[in-house]
Amino acid sequence: MLISKVVLKNWRNFREANVALSSRCFIVGPNACGKSNFLDVFRFCRDIVKQGGGLQKALSDRGGLSKIRCLTSNSSESGIELGLHIFDPTSNTNWIYEIGVSKNRGRNSRSLLKFERVYKNEKIILDRPNSDDKKDDSLLTQTHLEQINSNSKFRDIANLFNTTVYLHLVPQLIRYAHTFSSEGLEGDPFGRTFLEKIAKSSEGTRKQKLSKIGEALKSVVPQFDELQFTRDPVNGKPHLEAIYQHWRAGKAGRQREDQFSDGTLRLIGLFWSLLESDSLLLLEEPELSLHSEIIKKLPSLIYRLQTAKKRQVILTTHSTDLLSDDGISTEEVLLFKPTKRGTEIKVLSQDEEASSLLQGGFTIGEAIIPRTKPSLIDQLSLLK
Ligand SMILES: Nc1ncnc2c1ncn2[C@@H]1O[C@H](COP(=O)(O)OP(=O)(O)OP(=O)(O)O)[C@@H](O)[C@H]1O
Ligand SMILES: [Mg+2]
Repeated sequence: MLISKVVLKNWRNFREANVALSSRCFIVGPNACGKSNFLDVFRFCRDIVKQGGGLQKALSDRGGLSKIRCLTSNSSESGIELGLHIFDPTSNTNWIYEIGVSKNRGRNSRSLLKFERVYKNEKIILDRPNSDDKKDDSLLTQTHLEQINSNSKFRDIANLFNTTVYLHLVPQLIRYAHTFSSEGLEGDPFGRTFLEKIAKSSEGTRKQKLSKIGEALKSVVPQFDELQFTRDPVNGKPHLEAIYQHWRAGKAGRQREDQFSDGTLRLIGLFWSLLESDSLLLLEEPELSLHSEIIKKLPSLIYRLQTAKKRQVILTTHSTDLLSDDGISTEEVLLFKPTKRGTEIKVLSQDEEASSLLQGGFTIGEAIIPRTKPSLIDQLSLLK
């Protein structure tokens, strides 16, 4: 399944957006322009369908509708609207899922659906409010998407959202997971339970994946030899163990994850996620902690692994190195530009300035990263 287009109205930084997505997308823009907020659209959909989730929880986890609704929108434009266009290549089906949510002006604070619609190959198969909703508007506090009894005709969409993976790995959280509260964020985006996730996979899958990851790490981490899964003999806790070639010939040194470098841990997390499944994968700044030569290889690596799994990968980046790969097409890069009316999104292929720079021999990174710098950046040097 591929999310081919996203249409937004009043979603956080975006007053209006209508953007085509490819199976690999690079989101580029200055700090605080809404890159993570854009990824949050897919996490929001996941939060609606996940077990124990639902529309009201997805909203309240984000501080309520008033926090999500675009600050720059007109007061007359009430609520938020999301539209996701999805293509399923296996059944050759085009889906559209659309919802609008607005504040309930009535007795309680729960937000209400303005509409919920599903199209299958251009034919509308769900159109709310329906006659039941009109009789009892409390039904509009829930989507049909989140209800197993009501989503049977478009379960594929619910499954796509439910399996979405968001990764923004924080090495310290993997190393010192026990010191952080177990009140976790859904899907464990920062890797606090990453080792437990590895532990839960079947032994065969785990061995196969760790062996692949170990092979990849050999080419980037000095003296690295092998990656293994172990359990603490005393408390049974899961660990990763790396075997390093020792400087003394014939000896091998072993280290656990708390001694791995930040870059090693982030690469292990990234490789594991890429090998994990065929679901939509959202990556936040995969370049963090990595050497520029490794970063340059990430786009082709992601392409190889996602093609094998036929999965869509959407990532945010600030890295010129990551965008230096000449295999990246201008259709795959989304340029986020903050304006007074909210952030605007442009596919790079539609950007004339970038096109002329690219024709002049610049890489995509060289052509666009300098343009994403903040307009007042020079004032930073006045800080004393
Ligand atoms: N409802 C809203 N309306 C308008 N702006 C909002 C809303 N909610 C959050 N924001 C703004 O979004 C910004 C943060 O956006 P986000 O985290 O997506 O940035 P980013 O592009 O990922 O930045 P970075 O590169 O630093 O990670 C903040 O400046 C915040 O004020
Ligand atoms: Mg961000």
